[in-house]
Amino acid sequence: MIDNNSIKKILIVGISLCLVCSAIVSLAAINLRDKQIENALNEQKIKILASANLLSEEKTLEEVFSSIEERIVDLETGQFVNTINLETFDANKVAKDPKTSIVLSNDQDIALIKNRENYAKIYLHYNDVELNAVILPVRGYGLWGTMYGYLALESDLNTIIGLEFYKDKETPGLGAEINNPKWKKLWKGKEIYSTNGELAIQVIKGSVMTDDSGFNNKVDGLSGATITGNGVTNLLQFWLSDLGFQPFLNQLKNNKTLSMESGDV
Ligand SMILES: Cc1cc2nc3c(=O)[nH]c(=O)nc-3n(C[C@H](O)[C@H](O)[C@H](O)COP(=O)(O)O)c2cc1C
Repeated sequence: MIDNNSIKKILIVGISLCLVCSAIVSLAAINLRDKQIENALNEQKIKILASANLLSEEKTLEEVFSSIEERIVDLETGQFVNTINLETFDANKVAKDPKTSIVLSNDQDIALIKNRENYAKIYLHYNDVELNAVILPVRGYGLWGTMYGYLALESDLNTIIGLEFYKDKETPGLGAEINNPKWKKLWKGKEIYSTNGELAIQVIKGSVMTDDSGFNNKVDGLSGATITGNGVTNLLQFWLSDLGFQPFLNQLKNNKTLSMESGDV
């Protein structure tokens, strides 16, 4: 029998307790990892649907999401790619791999993302066979880090349905107001191109005046968060440019017969 106050017993009990606790924590971490990944994916699905105003209280997330068609787009050509596995496609990995991305020059990199992936996963929603929404992944630097989101366009490929961010590092009450429902509402109906066809969508400083000739292309700035607002402008300008989704949007515009069944652009 070892004396309860002996150093040996204290050490045995202490070390055993540590081992048991760390085993419990490790097991919990391993078991929760899948759940965390699933939650993050669900959060993204919610944002994808929310951007196109498709969330429904009557249907489950999976039911609504099943109405979405996911496609991989070659950003260079703007065409669909059928040879990449949709399930395992990871935009972050594609963007980091020099074989599947380009390094942006300072002039090109207005969204401050450094590398642009050559392929992107986009989302299409149809009313029966009529294209209803095109949802594009967008990202760019705010004040504190990269903001990741989805931009949903109507089938005219000009009118915005919504803009939703699912990850950002902006300050609550300042830049993080990009997630405020009131601000998000301002995007509905805004247009990415001006009447003379220029890419004109932007967040301004202050409020947009109703008599502003660019009213349809401008969104109110966030007070005390001009840097984040500029970041949003820059990321939209980048992802809608010829380095982003412009080639794809052009392909889609020229292919009005596109339907869920009709295959490639
Ligand atoms: C602690 C701290 C956090 C801030 N967070 C943000 C932010 O998330 N986004 C942002 O644009 N500006 C943020 N700012 C303010 C910027 O430094 C800058 O003053 C602001 O973007 C200018 O916007 P305004 O012209 O609307 O005042 C922060 C400032 C401080 C001190």
